[in-house]
Amino acid sequence: MKLCIALDLPTIDENLKLLNKLKEYDNLWIKVGFRSYIRDGKEFLEEIRKINYTFKIFLDLKLYDIPNTMADAAEEIANLGVDMFNIHASSGKVAMQTVMERLSKLEKRPLVLAVTALTSFSEEGFQDIYNDNLNKKTIDFAKLSYEAGLDGVVCSAYESQGIKDATNCNFLTLTPGIRPFGEDSNDQKRVATIDLAKDNSVDFIVVGRPIYKSSEPLLKVKNILEAL
Ligand code: C5P
Repeated sequence: MKLCIALDLPTIDENLKLLNKLKEYDNLWIKVGFRSYIRDGKEFLEEIRKINYTFKIFLDLKLYDIPNTMADAAEEIANLGVDMFNIHASSGKVAMQTVMERLSKLEKRPLVLAVTALTSFSEEGFQDIYNDNLNKKTIDFAKLSYEAGLDGVVCSAYESQGIKDATNCNFLTLTPGIRPFGEDSNDQKRVATIDLAKDNSVDFIVVGRPIYKSSEPLLKVKNILEAL
């Protein structure tokens, strides 16, 4: 299981300050999401690599559009040299296949994950949108993504094992909403600890606020890495 740190701080300086504290950790996964990417763009990705060129970048932009527009965007993302990015499974099988076909023409491509159900959804909130059971629909989304040739899915830790059972044990699961040692859940509804993620064969845990809001982020990362 790998740790992926969500860099969602309010300024580029704060994000880079946090990363500088963590520069000794080779091959650490860094998640760059809407906030940071919209504000700081590809220069931010370059700054991350300058701190430690072995850092792996997960660009969390959750694409959702018509197939051709998604494939165009996916190609642009691949050209940024990131290691992983994501799209919404609810964009449909054709859109996901179109993205993978386009990327297959490139010499090197990033890993592609599909978002199943956002971890901020409660069962009720999910029903309002999809009129279906959250767990069942998550497995359906994962199967669709697997059939479309993606590398894995974004899901909650509670669904990870079920997804692997329904697809393949090598189909990756990345789980946000992790509160490593039971910290405050904030706006997340389906939070899980490291132990629960481990029990569910999760490949990547995403941790944001429990690290960057901690008074001692370096110690928190150290404790998490030891617990993995
Ligand atoms: O601060 P916290 O640990 O809750 O951060 C979780 C991160 O994972 C945020 O950047 C959020 O946008 C992202 N994310 C999520 N749920 C998903 C996909 C991504 O919480 N399904």
